[in-house]
Amino acid sequence: VERLDALSREGFGAPDAEQALQGDGLTLRVANTMVENVIGTFGLPNAVAVNFVIDGQERVVPMVIEEPSVLAAVSHMARVVRDAGGFTTDTDPSIMIGQIQLTPQGDHRACVEQLQGHLDELLAAAKDIHPRLRERGGGVRSLEVRELVYDEQAHTREHMVVLQFYIDCVDAMGANMVNTVAERLSPMVESITGEQVRMAILSNLADRRLARAKVSLPLSVWGDDLERSRATCESIAAAWRFAWADPYRATTHNKGVMNGIDAVVLATGNDWRAIEAGAHAFAARSGTYRPLTRWEVIDDRLEGHIEIPLQLGTVGGTIPIHPTVRANLAMMGVTTSRELSAITAAVGLAQNLGALKALVSEGIQAGHMRMHARTVAAVAGATEQEIPLVMADMVAEKDISAHRAELVLKRLRTTQERP
Ligand code: MEV
Repeated sequence: VERLDALSREGFGAPDAEQALQGDGLTLRVANTMVENVIGTFGLPNAVAVNFVIDGQERVVPMVIEEPSVLAAVSHMARVVRDAGGFTTDTDPSIMIGQIQLTPQGDHRACVEQLQGHLDELLAAAKDIHPRLRERGGGVRSLEVRELVYDEQAHTREHMVVLQFYIDCVDAMGANMVNTVAERLSPMVESITGEQVRMAILSNLADRRLARAKVSLPLSVWGDDLERSRATCESIAAAWRFAWADPYRATTHNKGVMNGIDAVVLATGNDWRAIEAGAHAFAARSGTYRPLTRWEVIDDRLEGHIEIPLQLGTVGGTIPIHPTVRANLAMMGVTTSRELSAITAAVGLAQNLGALKALVSEGIQAGHMRMHARTVAAVAGATEQEIPLVMADMVAEKDISAHRAELVLKRLRTTQERP
């Protein structure tokens, strides 16, 4: 409650935030309308990342995550970046992709030509499917015909024709819109080609809906000792090159990026599976799996950049019915999908910087173990006052265990009880 009050005083409040975040956010009644066979709801910590300055604007960023250290690291990095001028971002319009697949029984080239000859007609029909989206400035923008070949070795070769369309979903994630267009266009595609549509669905490789964020840090960013700070910057760039050169490292590097991104995606009621699938496919777009960020020392700066597909909505889906999601979006102060994507990209970049900085200096276990020590102390029954004392002892003794926590607690309580 105190933290919520402080946020509210700073201008980051949300109507009914206390009820939504600390009372029953998602009620059983609402949960029951969301999916089938509901037997309860599931809780996770809902925290806020602080210190973010993005495109000159102060932001607090709600994040839902179970992993310790993520919030501390991202808020710390946001402060470091803020001191160097903050994040700058840039986002594409909310273009999603839909696909209608045909496996022509007749000549596949004729099928392609028939579709190409009717693209204007198909586009006009597609534009009419969502008149309300059009009123909001969105709608189907273009269509193209793609020829694909299934040519796996030792299997029968097969030609496919895919009608692919591009639709601006404005502030919605867009899955339902895309799928409706894809399914409604299918009969027309069948009558133009005389072929049967096999399937019609969106693509989660939302590579026309990219969000980018960048930071530029002085080499003195890590403290007064310039040589040491410069070496840390060089090590961060070397850590990035390791990820570029090796998919084993790139996967973990990107996992760290997604620690931040997924937590914002969850807090804002978005589809994290779509974000994950799109991010990793995008990371592999060159044919090799690569990092989603880039870190380089250029002249006397450490330059960081992220580019990632983000299919995020601020309307639709569970957003109107989930009170916690509504409170989080209000606290964040976002109304548009592009604003939300810009912030989310910045969080991903900051989270990655935090991980790389820790990895090339003290390592990540020190921070993790401090946080873990807190959990161990709490589980052993330490009160709010006792937790720091139990933690300090366990860290100093390098023994972060339930046994040690219980021992310290016993000692503390007997000393306190003595007159
Ligand atoms: C842990 O959740 C994330 C890291 O492994 C990311 C990384 O290695 O870059 C620390």
